[in-house]
Amino acid sequence: MIAACGHNRVMGSSGTLPWKIQKDWEYFLETTRDGALVMGRKCYEDFVEHAQERNVVALTRNPNLTFAHAQRAGSLKESIRLASAMSNNVWVCGGEQIYAEAMPLCEELHLTQIDADFVGDTHFPDWQDHFPNEQSRRETTGNGYPLTFLILQK
Ligand SMILES: NC(=O)c1ccc[n+]([C@@H]2O[C@H](COP(=O)([O-])OP(=O)(O)OC[C@H]3O[C@@H](n4cnc5c(N)ncnc54)[C@H](OP(=O)(O)O)[C@@H]3O)[C@@H](O)[C@H]2O)c1
Repeated sequence: MIAACGHNRVMGSSGTLPWKIQKDWEYFLETTRDGALVMGRKCYEDFVEHAQERNVVALTRNPNLTFAHAQRAGSLKESIRLASAMSNNVWVCGGEQIYAEAMPLCEELHLTQIDADFVGDTHFPDWQDHFPNEQSRRETTGNGYPLTFLILQK
């Protein structure tokens, strides 16, 4: 699982990220480069320009919807089955409900904490009980924001 959030776990606003932080975006692209990405329909719509260079499975409950640059899945279980056939590394990339549903299943969480307030309408779920073990921590700044890159495990 990979995510970034600001204060109060804010992670999205009006279908996109509430910030532009090049260092975090590059970290996301680099970390997930060789993996298969699982994401909700709204995330896919925001990510679509990158999806053609990636292995992506997009979730929707609409049986009539297909995606130009992703395989379609109708449930998290199906999405993980499809993504596992594409790569040994499956990355759950949100959004909110999908993170919550996938949290018990994922082995590792790569979380960027941004030490700033953002206005938003989507929140990363509480993760502490699922990933209590900190494997690594790197602090830096990006676009003027203090950033902490965490890798957390079960
Ligand atoms: N900061 C971060 O790390 C981060 C990461 C990811 C996303 N975000 C932000 O979060 C927002 C998008 O997240 P979101 O939670 O609003 O939407 P989302 O999860 O990307 O998409 C929601 C849609 O996915 C489908 N879906 C969700 N759960 C499903 C399930 N169990 N089975 C089948 N389909 C399912 C449904 O599509 P249908 O309506 O088509 O049925 C649902 O309406 C954006 O603002 C994005 O930028 C931020």
